[in-house]
Amino acid sequence: MELKIAVLPGDGIGPEISAQGVNVLKAVCSRFNHELLLEYGLVGAAAIDATGNPFPDDTLQMCRRSDAVLFSAIGHPKYDNDPTAKVRPEQGLLAMRKSLGLYANVRPVETFKCLLHKSPLRAEIVEGADFVCIRELTGGMYFGKKHQDENEAYDTCIYSRHEVERILRVAYEYACRRRRHLTVVDKANVLASSRLWRKVAQEMAPQYPDVETDFMYVDNAAMRIIQDPRFFDVMVTENTFGDILTDEASVISGSMGLLPSASIGEGTPVFEPIHGSWPQAAGLNIANPLAQILSVAMLFEHLGLEKEGALVRNAVSASLDAGIVTPDIDPESKETTSSVGQWITDYVSNPSNC
Ligand code: IPM
Ligand code: MN
Repeated sequence: MELKIAVLPGDGIGPEISAQGVNVLKAVCSRFNHELLLEYGLVGAAAIDATGNPFPDDTLQMCRRSDAVLFSAIGHPKYDNDPTAKVRPEQGLLAMRKSLGLYANVRPVETFKCLLHKSPLRAEIVEGADFVCIRELTGGMYFGKKHQDENEAYDTCIYSRHEVERILRVAYEYACRRRRHLTVVDKANVLASSRLWRKVAQEMAPQYPDVETDFMYVDNAAMRIIQDPRFFDVMVTENTFGDILTDEASVISGSMGLLPSASIGEGTPVFEPIHGSWPQAAGLNIANPLAQILSVAMLFEHLGLEKEGALVRNAVSASLDAGIVTPDIDPESKETTSSVGQWITDYVSNPSNC
């Protein structure tokens, strides 16, 4: 098969983890005789520096003509403390999601047995936790009408029935393939937009009689994630709630550097770690490349290449079992971004690891 992949390394640690993701991608493609065509594009602060635009049209066209995008991270400290900045790196990511119609962000939260002791939660609470958060990605406050002047500012949270229906559809499909339990997370006791979500979900639930649907307020869900993460199978929620809850959920696995995600919808899908650009670590070769490498696994699986995805996952598990980990997991470790990436690349290249 021919695979056209747009690689967008972005900012901070992005280029370092991207390089490891690409090495794994190349190695797996060569093992399975896929022809891999890579194109590199600019996004985020790197794109602002080069072109003034955080998501240049060249990058959009490159994404459109690809089968998938492998994205890394976005953000730069010089914009973080400047509330007056007119262009921000994050706008690049938002523009990419919006222009490709990527309304669903799939964020699986898994735990690895050998890392249970690294979780900030007690092992008996996290062991076996395995859920997916389906975060709505192109609506809500991120994209609603905004205003900012000297004395007042607002962001509006708008959802249409159509937007709610299509994200619930994605969530129900995941639930059908998993343990058939869907939790709709909202704030329907306060927010009108949440009440629309709840109404639409209640109308849709009878179409999925095998799925148990329940509703949970977002504040309660934030508590439940750390108190009883095994409760969840598939959770679906609006954009901002999903952003916050998935950062929270990501650390229970032992490191935020482990969680990949897929942004899917109408156009070319994007595969990316859920973590940010960690500018303080840029260039130090210490960032954990696993979230990026697991994004490569999700990329293969999304394209129907199950064996290729499984090989990447096996390699990641084997590296963790062998203690080949970056310092976020083991502060004593001498391994680096590139040495962990190299170990995994070697593993997937070795014909005896099928
Ligand atoms: C994420 C990130 C982005 C978001 C930022 C960088 C715009 O935090 O992918 O979760 O808020 O969606
Ligand atoms: Mn986030």
